[in-house]
Amino acid sequence: MDEIDSSRLIFVQLKQGGCERQAASHEQFEFSPKESQMSTVLAIHASPRGERSHSRRLAEVFLSAWQARHPQSKLTRREVGRALIPPVNEAFVAAAFYPEPDARPLSMQADLAFSDTLVDELLGHDVLVISTPMHNFSVPSGLKAWIDQIVRLGLTFNHSLDNGIAQYEPLVQGKKALIVTSRGGFGFGPGGELEAMNHADTLLRTALGFIGITDVTVIAAEGEESEARTFEVSAAEAEQRLLALAREF
Ligand SMILES: Cc1cc2nc3c(=O)[nH]c(=O)nc-3n(C[C@H](O)[C@H](O)[C@H](O)COP(=O)(O)O)c2cc1C
Repeated sequence: MDEIDSSRLIFVQLKQGGCERQAASHEQFEFSPKESQMSTVLAIHASPRGERSHSRRLAEVFLSAWQARHPQSKLTRREVGRALIPPVNEAFVAAAFYPEPDARPLSMQADLAFSDTLVDELLGHDVLVISTPMHNFSVPSGLKAWIDQIVRLGLTFNHSLDNGIAQYEPLVQGKKALIVTSRGGFGFGPGGELEAMNHADTLLRTALGFIGITDVTVIAAEGEESEARTFEVSAAEAEQRLLALAREF
């Protein structure tokens, strides 16, 4: 499990007057194609903002670089920020936890159809890239709704009893995830002053880990609500990290 958060590094740079760092440039990195094995990426975009979204833009920087490196691989985008992902309702709960999943009535199968699509989509890709803003110390509701749709008994996790105590088994194997996030405040990263208020990274890591995706990297740009230069530096650093990561993923 890897954790990269640009905030501390940037903070040091700012304190040391190291703000003149140039914005990351694609020319700094060589992306020679690497096709030893077919890879597939599922990109989940969670910002309600389109063109103006920083998390979306940064994730797309990674995806472009990754595609240059893997020209024949498959990239699928799933919009959860600007498209409505249905929240869990009573019909969903009844169907998802129906005691005989192989004998679900047709109406219940219909209630799970969209969730099944999202689960199949997740299982059909090797790499998961989630771009998300921090919203009220967590993730936007669309991303939370997506999580609720893909954490599925019998498909992405199993449940059993051991001496009456619930046991959970993750069913998703061999995948890794990259979370690209943007925050208005500053210091939500590891060791930061506001780390304890960061319920976004912890939610994503916990939920993904619960279904078996434990190889999770977080790259953050911070300080959009501070003076412009603070965010520029943080975003440029995040971009550098993403371009470097595109060579390894
Ligand atoms: C509804 C809402 C809630 C927000 N809550 C937080 C928050 O809790 N902490 C924070 O640092 N920034 C918060 N922000 C600021 C965003 O995280 C910041 O603007 C981020 O860069 C947006 O990412 P995007 O450009 O990808 O949409 C919030 C913004 C909105 C619109």
